[in-house]
Amino acid sequence: MRKTPDQLRSARWFAPDDLRSFGHRSRLMQLGYSEADFMGKPVIGILNTWSELNACHSHFPERVEAVKRGVLAAGGFPVELPTLSVDESFTKPTSMLYRNMLAMETEETIRSHPLDGVVLMGGCDKTTPGLVMGGITANVPMIYLPAGPMLRGNYAGKTLGSGSDAWKFWDERRAGNVSDDEWQGLQGGIARSAGVCMTMGTASTMTAIVDAMGLTLPGASSIPAVDSAHQRMAADCGRRIVDMAWEDFTPDRIVTDAAIRNGAIVAMATGCSTNAVVHLIAMARRAGVDLDLDDLDALGRTTPLLANVRPNGQGYLMEDFYFAGGLRALMTQIADRLHLTSMTVNGKTLGENLEGAVVYNDDVIRPLSNPVYHEGSLAVLRGNLCPDGAVIKPAACDPKYYQHQGPALVFDSYPEMKAAIDDENLDVTPDHVLVLRNAGPLGGPGMPEWGMLPIPKALIKKGYRDMLRISDARMSGTSYGACVLHVAPESYVGGPLALLRNGDLIKLDLANRRLDMLVSEDELSRRRAAWTPPEPRFQRGWGWIYSKHVTQADKGCDFDFLERGFGPAAGEPDI
Ligand code: FES
Ligand code: MG
Repeated sequence: MRKTPDQLRSARWFAPDDLRSFGHRSRLMQLGYSEADFMGKPVIGILNTWSELNACHSHFPERVEAVKRGVLAAGGFPVELPTLSVDESFTKPTSMLYRNMLAMETEETIRSHPLDGVVLMGGCDKTTPGLVMGGITANVPMIYLPAGPMLRGNYAGKTLGSGSDAWKFWDERRAGNVSDDEWQGLQGGIARSAGVCMTMGTASTMTAIVDAMGLTLPGASSIPAVDSAHQRMAADCGRRIVDMAWEDFTPDRIVTDAAIRNGAIVAMATGCSTNAVVHLIAMARRAGVDLDLDDLDALGRTTPLLANVRPNGQGYLMEDFYFAGGLRALMTQIADRLHLTSMTVNGKTLGENLEGAVVYNDDVIRPLSNPVYHEGSLAVLRGNLCPDGAVIKPAACDPKYYQHQGPALVFDSYPEMKAAIDDENLDVTPDHVLVLRNAGPLGGPGMPEWGMLPIPKALIKKGYRDMLRISDARMSGTSYGACVLHVAPESYVGGPLALLRNGDLIKLDLANRRLDMLVSEDELSRRRAAWTPPEPRFQRGWGWIYSKHVTQADKGCDFDFLERGFGPAAGEPDI
């Protein structure tokens, strides 16, 4: 069913012969448009998360022009609407504190304006879930335009991957193995172009998920940011969204249970930044889809890791992944696990979109017979330290930690940890379990990416590069190591992590998905009774709203009042 011009959502603003509509039309004329430019045409909002402090989105002004070109060619009327940029590199204390702000802004910007369809432009970590969460709730036809990964990093003839190689060389520098000149060279070579981190970090995991969910044009997430194919994809988004507006092809027809599961399966096969867990659950709950940590653990057990892209495997990067066939090629390898009848933005099913996809390099995109890791990228742990769950990336850690027991070395804050970790006389052994608490959604605040705790200098100098680490924080998708993350409930609200003391024995049993502190229930009850809640972190403003309403990691850290289950979405504005 195609809409007629008077059925367009924007017609409510522009069509009536009344005073309000006179105002709307005259204001577009103030902007230099004639009625012929906009009357009876789908108005397409281009929601742009560009800013001069978002290096990953620096090509967006050019891409907006390409989207507009596509919209105009298809007979629509494009308008650019800037939204919160949520850059990963500069936002303190952490970009995660603002994901929900972008989600709210996206939802309300769409709802309050005369838009018949939207192109959501994002890519840097939190922008993808933020835009998509808001878009799902607003339920106006939308296409996601992923920023695309930057080119491979390079220094002194070596290929460098965002994040992953920075951590590696930082450890070497702490060990005294990297000179000032080399450090400068790495700094200039690790990020060479516009685009998101070109490892399979959170950004590329999230855009792959959203691609698999059917919200991007097929395979769009793999195209490097500065490739001319990226410009053509942007123009195609513009052309297609106009049709979607006429077809009233709303997100609820795309973001189904099956689509969310496709996203989760692809997350496992690509290496799954642990952050994806939080965002997947949050997006699912926006769509009213029941997806929890146990579902993700089950998918993790049965979906092999096939993308040989750093920080997993032997270290290719997103550019290699694109040339190896990209996400469509990867999905052909796991097609029997995907829900191929899921609908996507181009009006075809996922299965139809995979036709003709070819793997050009089976070392980068591995076949099922030769996976990077036989299981998926994620395991969910439970136990008396994390009754509501915690996550670990087995493929990214030394297998000797899959089964480990050792004494806790507990830090109550990041500054305390940072000071101790560089103390060369710190009393720590390789068997110790480093613990950072008060770093969760409320404690961090915003659940910062502190979960890959640095290896103590005393051990770095002896050649150790991995240890078992536990926190209620997240870690960057480009991180690696034996890091247990997202412990829920977090310590700041009195979760069991708050009761742990230095020297308590901790036991990780990955095969049985258990994480426990070997402390008697009697002793834990005594400690619980003596525990006092910390002072609230915020007395006003965004932090105050955030603190009142953010959910724990196992629920996706959305605000409770934004989830589908809280109540029906606001209808159309009635004035
Ligand atoms: Fe933007 Fe990594 S900093 S994606
Ligand atoms: Mg990141």
